[in-house]
Amino acid sequence: MLLPFTHFISTSQLTKDSVGDIFERADFFEKVWSSGARSELLKEKIIALLFYEPSSRTMLSFQAATQGLSAGMILAQGEDASSLKKGETIEDTIRMAALYSDLIVMRHPQAGAAEKAASVSHVPFVNAGDGGNEHPTQALLDLYTIQKERGALDGLHIALVGDLKYGRTVHSLATLLTHYHVTITLVSPPALALPESYKTMLTNAGIKYAETDALESALDADVLYMTRIQKERFDDPADYDRMKDAYMLTAAHLTKNDITVMHPLPRLQEIAADVDAFPNAAYFRQARNGVPVRMALLSMLLGK
Ligand code: NCD
Repeated sequence: MLLPFTHFISTSQLTKDSVGDIFERADFFEKVWSSGARSELLKEKIIALLFYEPSSRTMLSFQAATQGLSAGMILAQGEDASSLKKGETIEDTIRMAALYSDLIVMRHPQAGAAEKAASVSHVPFVNAGDGGNEHPTQALLDLYTIQKERGALDGLHIALVGDLKYGRTVHSLATLLTHYHVTITLVSPPALALPESYKTMLTNAGIKYAETDALESALDADVLYMTRIQKERFDDPADYDRMKDAYMLTAAHLTKNDITVMHPLPRLQEIAADVDAFPNAAYFRQARNGVPVRMALLSMLLGK
């Protein structure tokens, strides 16, 4: 079970079969990990984690996945702490990191940075989020969570809510959903709509989708995927201020009991604390799923 690519930049690289292979392996690692055991699969490997943009879950779950596979880890965190700050190019940083490690994971504020990095990397490269473009490992864990929470993917009605323009997790997830028989409701302020290229992709894949700016009209979905308005991507802070509270889900909205509530986190006001007690509030289980999914991906990219 190997992947049909060396570098993982975008979910558009994944076939339905390769997603199935990753999930099968993630199920295995989930059992190992929850039993308290550690795998020794990557004990001769070193993984470089380069995080040039803030991260909590992605960073920590990649670290947990690395340790769960007994790999060594080298770490660069924050643009201030790296030579990028001195003006070094992404390409040179990656050439150097590839000399020290067997696989590179990078988060970077610039859309397209992952593609640039992968083009010069002599070791497998993983995109952990490149600006407002893509976040493919998050989308994998999101899809894995949907499958686990709902039992199956086909037949679901999924609502993607919030910042669909700059939300990289949404871009990567929408791409993955094209492999399944789902219907989608896109909920956003008009100024934060899903980019046309992704809508064309959905249409070409035969996915039926509707667009609305009203959260209320999506509350009959099976899965509500809430997202944060991406403050750091706005040119004009006034625009952010105008839209930041566009959607605030509270327990009062959840009249349909079996709606699965997800969020890549961090949440700000999009989900009120009173939703946490709701049995189908899946966002913390979703965050936990990041570890077995990333273990699966790291081991497969390293040919193990
Ligand atoms: C997301 C991201 O960084 O794009 N967070 C994450 O990786 N779990 C979502 C966000 O920051 O809003």
